[in-house]
Amino acid sequence: GVNIAGRSFTKILDYTPEEIQYLVDVSKTFKDMKRNGVPHKYLAGKNIVLLFEKTSTRTRCSFEVAGNDLGMGVTYLDPGSSQMGKKESIEDTARVLGRMYDGIEYRGFSQELVEELAEKAGVPVWNGLTDEFHPTQMIADLLTIEENFPMGVKGLKFVFFGDTRNNMGNSLMVLCAKMGMHFVGCGPKELRPTDELIATCEKIAAETGATITFTDDPKAAATDADVLYTDIWVSMGEPAELWAERIKELKPFQVNSELMGLAHKDAIFMHCLPSFHDTKTTIGEDVAEKFGIKEMEVTDEVFESRQSKVFDEAENRMHTIKAVMYATLK
Ligand code: CP
Ligand code: NVA
Repeated sequence: GVNIAGRSFTKILDYTPEEIQYLVDVSKTFKDMKRNGVPHKYLAGKNIVLLFEKTSTRTRCSFEVAGNDLGMGVTYLDPGSSQMGKKESIEDTARVLGRMYDGIEYRGFSQELVEELAEKAGVPVWNGLTDEFHPTQMIADLLTIEENFPMGVKGLKFVFFGDTRNNMGNSLMVLCAKMGMHFVGCGPKELRPTDELIATCEKIAAETGATITFTDDPKAAATDADVLYTDIWVSMGEPAELWAERIKELKPFQVNSELMGLAHKDAIFMHCLPSFHDTKTTIGEDVAEKFGIKEMEVTDEVFESRQSKVFDEAENRMHTIKAVMYATLK
């Protein structure tokens, strides 16, 4: 059987397909329990701390609700309210918090840093997003795909549109490689993952039956796709000045009804959120006004369509983060 007790969760690359599947299976059990009102305070008496150097809605709330459901005490430290990174190094912070807490969530910029934290903290560290990877999102995404393709995910055509070398593009390529899906990265050549990460994924893919391809032809990519996925065009930590360039580069890769029409009839649309499918946000309004564009990475029509699973996906963050904490802390 799978046993990941005591392990950190900083990237999907560190986990075997069996371990990833186990986390999804545990998530399904927790989702059923939650739906049926069955209490599951299995980690009562433990405490966790959530460190955020970037803002968050889903990840933070998922850790808080999941922690409470498991019976744990939860401390949240926002980007401004601790000594971390300013008066005290992250490494020292980790060693202090490791003496008080049973687990540490960290969202920040550098992947190296979260891995260093994991080495030094002495307790499990969970990566709540870095510039490079977003591993807890991957378990939620795999659960969401399984819910829509109950025959299994192996062999599905999975297309990621847009900035294929951001944390989501990188992570989804790894997930597809591990789970035997056909990953297609669809975006401009300049925005592809590093050759090193692609080579790593190709090696994994050779064992699982997955394939990894890239194209700048959105119609070819969408044709017969099972999952169409996109993400915001400028990520947290990137300068706002990038919007002009990204809109120009990425507009051809917007997920719209034309692309959905080319996909498999049972295809689903996914997005980790937050998204700019409309401009009802302050940043969205600014960008829309400045560049005369109303919809960005996905049209409102697709976002609100029957095929869109974005809110199931968001809910699944909570069930899957619960599974990750349970499996590593139990
Ligand atoms: N998908 C996701 O990580 O959302 P938040 O930034 O709101 O946590
Ligand atoms: N690529 C996005 C994902 C947000 C969950 C970002 O890093 O801002």
